[in-house]
Amino acid sequence: MGTMTTMGTTTDTLTRHAVALEKVTKRYGSMTALREATWAFPRGSFTAIMGRSGSGKSTLLHCASGLGRPTSGSVRLGEIELGTMPEARLTEVRRERIGFVFQSYNLVPSLTVAQNITLPLTLAGRRPERSWLREVSSRVGMSGRLHHMPAELSGGQQQRVAVARALITRPEVVFADEPTAALDPHASSQVMALLREAVDTTGQTVVLVTHDPAVAAWADSVLFLDRGDIEDELTEPSTAKVLARWELL
Ligand SMILES: Nc1ncnc2c1ncn2[C@@H]1O[C@H](COP(=O)(O)OP(=O)(O)OP(=O)(O)O)[C@@H](O)[C@H]1O
Ligand SMILES: [Mg+2]
Repeated sequence: MGTMTTMGTTTDTLTRHAVALEKVTKRYGSMTALREATWAFPRGSFTAIMGRSGSGKSTLLHCASGLGRPTSGSVRLGEIELGTMPEARLTEVRRERIGFVFQSYNLVPSLTVAQNITLPLTLAGRRPERSWLREVSSRVGMSGRLHHMPAELSGGQQQRVAVARALITRPEVVFADEPTAALDPHASSQVMALLREAVDTTGQTVVLVTHDPAVAAWADSVLFLDRGDIEDELTEPSTAKVLARWELL
């Protein structure tokens, strides 16, 4: 678990870790948003990332998920290197092996709930299996709403649809950037319970950015970023422990 060195990169590491960053640096002009970040996310783990605004959380998530390119360093998803992968192939890998959940839900307003959930499959030219769509929708409590439009749903319901969309391809890793930021505490807990279930029952790996100590407490461990550096890891987090560490940032 945790950090690893170039020398320690073995086949075992490749299979035990869903995502591994090695000395990942991201610069925007002269600004260093992420500095030589080295971290391995174990398969089947749930990691929360915290830090002040501008500390590099979204940058880390973008680099780790192949949404953004590191300026230097290596990003591996299982056994494959994402950092240098050609864009077209990277798009495919993201579609097939990674799920995303964003703060603003990002549902397509003109598509029904069912069409939104199955969109990643449609885009990949794959036909959704009815039984799997049923299972995923019922897991997120949206079975009765499959023919509704996003505008007819509350924020919490829309975010549960977004979680279903992230899970429909059975991704190895789900990345979420402040998925509960716009939700009330009840809706927020519902979304976190779904992500927790994905880790505990299907062994998926979740990496989530949040500002909320109560949300971070759902994770197995919390990484703290400060001005582009991974400063610290807190394991077995509780809301109180996270809050206490947060106050030191
Ligand atoms: N596309 C970009 N162009 C230039 N600078 C950027 C870009 N994206 C991020 N940055 C800068 O990189 C730094 C890290 O940004 P990042 O979005 O990763 O922070 P964050 O920790 O996610 O913050 P927040 O909590 O506000 O979402 C910031 O100083 C930001 O201004
Ligand atoms: Mg951010």
